[in-house]
Amino acid sequence: MENLRVLIVGNGGREHALAWKLAQSPELERLFVAPGNAGTHVWNVDIPAQDISALVEFALKETIDLTIVGPEDPLSLGIVDAFQKAGLRIFGPSQAAAQLEGSKSFAKSIMESAKIPTAKWAMFEDQEQAKDYVRTIGAPCVLKADGLAAGKGVIVAMDLDTALQAVDEIMDGGFGTAGKKLVVEEFLEGQEVSLLCLCDGMAARPMVPVQDHKRALEGDLGLNTGGMGTYSPPPVWTPEISTEVMRDIVFPTLRVMSERGTPFQGVLFLGLMLTDQGAKLLEYNVRFGDPETQVVMKRLKSDLLPILWACTEGRISEVKPEWKEEVAVCVVMASPGYPLAYAKGIPIHLPELKDQDAVIFHAGTGIQEGQLLSTGGRVLGITVEGKTLQLAREKAYSIVDQIDFPGGHYRRDIGVKGL
Ligand code: AMP
Ligand code: GLY
Repeated sequence: MENLRVLIVGNGGREHALAWKLAQSPELERLFVAPGNAGTHVWNVDIPAQDISALVEFALKETIDLTIVGPEDPLSLGIVDAFQKAGLRIFGPSQAAAQLEGSKSFAKSIMESAKIPTAKWAMFEDQEQAKDYVRTIGAPCVLKADGLAAGKGVIVAMDLDTALQAVDEIMDGGFGTAGKKLVVEEFLEGQEVSLLCLCDGMAARPMVPVQDHKRALEGDLGLNTGGMGTYSPPPVWTPEISTEVMRDIVFPTLRVMSERGTPFQGVLFLGLMLTDQGAKLLEYNVRFGDPETQVVMKRLKSDLLPILWACTEGRISEVKPEWKEEVAVCVVMASPGYPLAYAKGIPIHLPELKDQDAVIFHAGTGIQEGQLLSTGGRVLGITVEGKTLQLAREKAYSIVDQIDFPGGHYRRDIGVKGL
């Protein structure tokens, strides 16, 4: 395993963080990112993440040794199956295994088979039946479009009227085909933690726990977003919780997936709620989280490449990733208006960073005539490590304050829950 040619698929902050980490690997010969962003421009290849046949063709032509998939869309479209069919090595779950994220009702059925602690739930295809059920259980409750809705198909309803409206909103086509089926869930209370696990089909290793901030505004107000910032580790997490989650959630999931003939290889990302009755699973994602990956990569001491390689060979038990003691924080700067309609093409000027402890990961950025511009909803992820959460936060915000991004919005309270 040396002189490896690696392709990363995707164009977000997560992919920049993966590229930043892999570029430091002594085993790497050449890196490509398809399509990438301004932060990854030296590695970019102009192929969209969903154009699977073009990606296969590129990987064959460039004799790519390992492909790593960032976003869920290509996974749900079967990129892993297509690469494997072409004899190419790829890190990520098959189309069948990716349903853990692609379909909430599928995920719930796996949780049921594996006896995984989760919220009580019911699934509906009929709007009136769904509403009758919601009236029976009452509020608060949670309504979820069954299919992929870019992280936006979930409505937490604190009163009955909102819940009934949410049923209509989802099932009347507000989320396209994703809302043909509706999952209604019991409302769980507690702190949320994201746990990303490296899986090789049979075995798994957890990465460091992360707390995300999903709401657009400070104090966890406003709309749900893809994530406005992260920090790691959250102090609510303990080694006991970790043991319990691996034993009661991760390993049973892998066992059931393997028994079904759809073993899970890739990152199994658990969205957990730490309740008074222990950790409960809110959802599976089948990929690296964004912006979870930014802080996870900042804290990873070991070389990432042999770890991902081991996953593709069923050898994750043989590698033991090492982690820094330092705390990491990532503050996301988003376009004005995000997560609703937002402006694009805003010029951005970044400060020169002298500090090894900080890195500005790009997400929705591009370059036009030498000028850095915003091109997406989430634009930058200012990622910093420090001896303490307080120090990491201070340093992150001091960099944010030096960034010239007119109208760019961010939360000032990333990590405050952990202080
Ligand atoms: P999901 O896409 O399923 O993770 O849901 C998005 C967000 O909705 C989660 O990060 C939680 O903040 C919230 N949420 C989802 N399910 C529940 C639940 N059963 N109880 C409370 N909050 C939930
Ligand atoms: N930050 C949550 C996600 O990647 O889905």
